Amino acid sequence: MRFCPVASPLLLVSLAIALPSTALAIDPPHDQIPGYATNDCAPCHSSHGFGTPASEICLSCHGESWTVVEAPLQATHADYITGTGNYDFELECTACHDPHYQRQDNMYGTSYGMYIKTTISENITVTDNTVSPPETETVAIDADIRFTSSSEFDNDDGDPSNDICNVCHTLTNHHQNDGTAPGGQDHHNGWDCTSCHEHINGFAQSCGGGMGGGGMGGGMGGGGMSH
Ligand code: HEC
Ligand code: HEC
Ligand code: HEC
Ligand code: HEC
Ligand code: HEC
Repeated sequence: MRFCPVASPLLLVSLAIALPSTALAIDPPHDQIPGYATNDCAPCHSSHGFGTPASEICLSCHGESWTVVEAPLQATHADYITGTGNYDFELECTACHDPHYQRQDNMYGTSYGMYIKTTISENITVTDNTVSPPETETVAIDADIRFTSSSEFDNDDGDPSNDICNVCHTLTNHHQNDGTAPGGQDHHNGWDCTSCHEHINGFAQSCGGGMGGGGMGGGMGGGGMSH
């Protein structure tokens, strides 16, 4: 799926570099990478071909071992980051983010940023290790979402499928996309989920993957995961 756009995007990029940048301007803050010209495509596209996995491009700035420019450190949503062993799954950064456009703000006239897509469209292969034997399936997600503030991770509007933290979930203990999570669908609705499920921990709960039991707040952890 990532193979087909190889030729034409390369053409587009060379065109964009040659043409006035207003034609293909990207939205702030990626329009101004420190040390590069405004709307320069090069920091992301010159050293990485279009065959490069998107996350690898992002991590060349947002990763621990950044090589281009140092940017806020983040880690993707994948089992090898969450480390609970309950599910096998792995997402590219671009499952949730479009690094060119602030699509949410452009659609809703807001200013929260975060480059979150307005449509999440992914075929996700996920293995449920909580059943014996483990079951693997491919889930096709294609849903419009709204995410314009830190209280909209689950906006509690009665439609779980339009929330960034529900839209893909078919197995999780809370916050499934059809409202049927076994441990109780509702769980801190309206909260900033990342106060406990930090992005740097792949959105795993920060009490270290245990069964709840309080003791929130700590567990910053930060670096240290291998990827
Ligand atoms: C902050 C990093 C970044 C900047 C700056 C950037 N891009 Fe991209 N671009 C990406 C990533 C990441 C992808 C996704 C690659 C993938 O999915 O494999 C991408 C994909 C693309 C694609 C393929 C089609 C698509 O949307 O997936 C085109 C065309 C493109 N970029 C053009 C540009 C142009 C033109 C500029 C400059 C005006 C630019 N990009 C600036 C990161 C960036
Ligand atoms: C499952 C969806 C998802 C994936 C996958 C994901 N992100 Fe995010 N990201 C988010 C959401 C939601 C926010 C907004 C968090 C907030 O509002 O506090 C965010 C915020 C961010 C921010 C801004 C916060 C900050 O620290 O300044 C950065 C940078 C970022 N993501 C980078 C990445 C990178 C790099 C990857 C891949 C390695 C990635 N994201 C993968 C959903 C995702
Ligand atoms: C060439 C370096 C570079 C690359 C590559 C890059 N970023 Fe960034 N990113 C930045 C910088 C610089 C900022 C601004 C940081 C700040 O303002 O403190 C930023 C900010 C962000 C933000 C916060 C946006 C906001 O509205 O505040 C998100 C989200 C983000 N990046 C996601 C990504 C994702 C996802 C990718 C890959 C698809 C990516 N970035 C690739 C340099 C990069
Ligand atoms: C693009 C799809 C996608 C989005 C968006 C997404 N998730 Fe997930 N998440 C998954 C998949 C796939 C799993 C594996 C379980 C399943 O399929 O239900 C998972 C599992 C989890 C788990 C359990 C992880 C583990 O390994 O035990 C937590 C916690 C979680 N997600 C929190 C979040 C939060 C918080 C957000 C919003 C910031 C979010 N997710 C957004 C796809 C997604
Ligand atoms: C006060 C801390 C806290 C907040 C805020 C919070 N969570 Fe959780 N979350 C936890 C803890 C602890 C667990 C593990 C125990 C449990 O399943 O209840 C968990 C479990 C989960 C799971 C189940 C993961 C699995 O193993 O299947 C999902 C999904 C989830 N949270 C999503 C969210 C979303 C979405 C938000 C925001 C709307 C959110 N959480 C807000 C602490 C929090």
